[in-house]
This record gives sequence, C-alpha cells and structure tokens, in this order.
Amino acid sequence: MNLINSKIILKNRPDPSVTEDLFDLKTEELKELKDDELLVDVKYVSIDPAMRGWISDIGNYSKPVDIDETMRSLGVGKIISSKNEDFKENEYVVGWLGWQKYAVVNKSLIQIKVNPNEVPLSTNLGALGLNGITAFAGLVDICKPKKKETVVVTTAAGSVGSAVGQIAKIYGCNTIGFTSSDEKAEICKKDFGYDEVINYKKADNLSSCLKQIAPNGIDCFFDNVGGDQFDAVIDNLNINARVVICGTIGMPSYPIPNGPRINRTLLVKRAKIEGLLVLDYFDRYKEIYDQLAQWFKDGKLKNKEDISHGLSKAPSSLVKILNGLNLGKQLIKL
Ligand SMILES: NC(=O)c1ccc[n+]([C@@H]2O[C@H](COP(=O)([O-])OP(=O)(O)OC[C@H]3O[C@@H](n4cnc5c(N)ncnc54)[C@H](OP(=O)(O)O)[C@@H]3O)[C@@H](O)[C@H]2O)c1
Repeated sequence: MNLINSKIILKNRPDPSVTEDLFDLKTEELKELKDDELLVDVKYVSIDPAMRGWISDIGNYSKPVDIDETMRSLGVGKIISSKNEDFKENEYVVGWLGWQKYAVVNKSLIQIKVNPNEVPLSTNLGALGLNGITAFAGLVDICKPKKKETVVVTTAAGSVGSAVGQIAKIYGCNTIGFTSSDEKAEICKKDFGYDEVINYKKADNLSSCLKQIAPNGIDCFFDNVGGDQFDAVIDNLNINARVVICGTIGMPSYPIPNGPRINRTLLVKRAKIEGLLVLDYFDRYKEIYDQLAQWFKDGKLKNKEDISHGLSKAPSSLVKILNGLNLGKQLIKL
C-alpha cells in the first residue's frame, strides 16, 4: 500500500526494572487491508503504569506482550481506509492501536468512535478514556459514595486519581489525596478540588497525619499504590468503609512484600474491599464515556495532560511515569 509504518516493539523483558532499552523502534511497509480491517492514522498513544505488567512474562489478567511484538497501548486516531462497513474514512476512533504510526486493526480492537469537534482528541485517552472509566467504575460502582462521606485517593494528582477526586466532589464528598510533591499537592487542590492533600514523602507518620485530618475516619478508599499508603488508610477506616484496590504501583512486582494482617480491622469496621479491573467495564464503555463527557463539557471534570512528542519518546515516558515524574495523563503525540 506504499505506506511505511514506524512502530515500537518489545525487545527484552524487565529484569526487574523497566528501562528504555527494553524497546526498539522499527519501520516496515504496510500490507494491503484484509476484509473487515481498518487502517488508522494514529494521533496520540497512551502510556500507562499497567504496561509494567504487560511486558513482564508473568501473565496476569492479560496475555504478556510477546518479544518483537508491537507494544500494546490504547490510542486515538483517524481512519484513513476501511474494509469494515461499520467504520468510514475520516472517522476518529479510540482503541488498542499500539505504539505505532499506522494501525491495521479489526473491529474488536476499537472501543468507541469520537468526535474531535466535541472534545479534544487527546482527552479521550485521559479523563474520558481508560483512566476516567476506571475512576468511575471504582468510585461510583464499587464505593458508592454518599454526600459528606470522606474519600481518600492515592496517586491523587495522576490521571485516574485526579478523576476519582473530581467525581467524589460531584457526589458531594470530602476528598483527601496522597501525592509525592508539594507541586503536585498544589495541583490537586487548585485543579482537582481536593480538600486536603498529604505529601507522603514528607509526612513522618502517614496514619497519624490522616487521623488528624479526618478524625471521623475514611468512608471510601480508592487505592492505586499499595504498601505504606494503603496500610495508613486501612488504619483509619470508618465503620462500613468501602475500599477499592485499583493499582499497586508503589509495590514491587516481585518479591511481593508482606504487610499487616488486616482481617480484624475489616471485621471490626465491617468494611468491604474489592479489586477492580477496568476491562470488566468495557461493555459499558459508551454509557460511562457519555457521563464523563457531560461532566467534562459542564466544566466539572478537568483533564490534565503531560504530552511528549514523537513515538521514540514512548519508552522514556513509561520510565518517567513509573518514577512518578508525570504531571497529568502521560501521552505521546505522533
Ligand atoms: N485496575 C485497573 O483496571 C486500572 C486501570 C488504570 C489504571 N490503574 C492503576 O491506577 C494507577 C494510576 O494510573 P494512572 O494511569 O492514572 O497513572 P498516573 O497516576 O498518571 O501516574 C502514575 C503515578 O503513580 C505514582 N507512582 C509512581 N511510582 C510510584 C511508587 N514507586 N510509589 C508510589 N507511587 C508511585 C506517581 O504519583 P505520585 O507522584 O503522586 O506518587 C505517578 O505520577 C496505577 O496504579 C495503575 O496501575 C488500574
């Protein structure tokens, strides 16, 4: 078809750290489209902490990315050719497009069609993308927040965390965020409306710091981190608290660290704890997207982005978010 694709493939697996040299940039000529396939000119690709798990050879909820395979990622782009009657040239789609300039995909890899005249294209990968859907699923569906309840969120300045904090405010809750710097703490308060923010790197004792801020206890806990931050919030749960385990970015993949035994705390507090995998909510993608898009248009849900330019920046951007150096949803603009 006379189009040359650039793509980033996985060359080696982490051992155990994720480093830029695990990836390689390759070029290849694109093949002709088969029946049902579409060709997408990719405009933005997503960088996600979950990629640390996808490139390791220990399978979890999804098959590991193979060596020499194009790096798996969500992306947004414009259809430039289609052999599927449901998709037309010049339409924009969000889907599993991978770290590449051109993606040849079939319908099963597309999540949704989007309209760049309604919301900026990149927003569909942040507050209106996987991160926003995750925030909605964990907070609204699992925690079921009530007005005036206290909600704690870890990675509060990040893409998922900032959406959780803002949705909690829409539901009339008091919000407390954890983050790693004063700069991020300021963003949490000013941009995402958090009532209180704890810089976990500065606090001497996270649990007593939280107790001072929320003496009546925590009703909903949206955890993206695990480890010490998780332990501190569990210490402060209120009766009938709901805890959602969304991520473990603060814990090593191996060996898995031991922590306090929380059985009695859960019993005494009659607390519920539940794991969340956003892929389980993909059959509700459009319904949740429409709600998030409405909040975004109403100015109730802000989307902060950290955009790097050029496909070759994808590996270093992944390393960057795994070191907490991003300020907003990490994306690559192609
Ligand atoms: N379960 C699901 O289906 C699902 C779906 C999407 C995302 N997630 C999870 O949600 C979390 C946030 O993802 P995101 O895409 O929104 O990323 P993000 O928050 O925009 O960026 C990652 C953030 O993680 C924090 N971090 C990085 N290394 C850390 C460490 N060693 N210890 C503690 N914190 C660390 C940093 O925030 P601070 O500087 O504030 O510490 C960093 O900015 C991740 O755990 C991710 O795996 C889960």
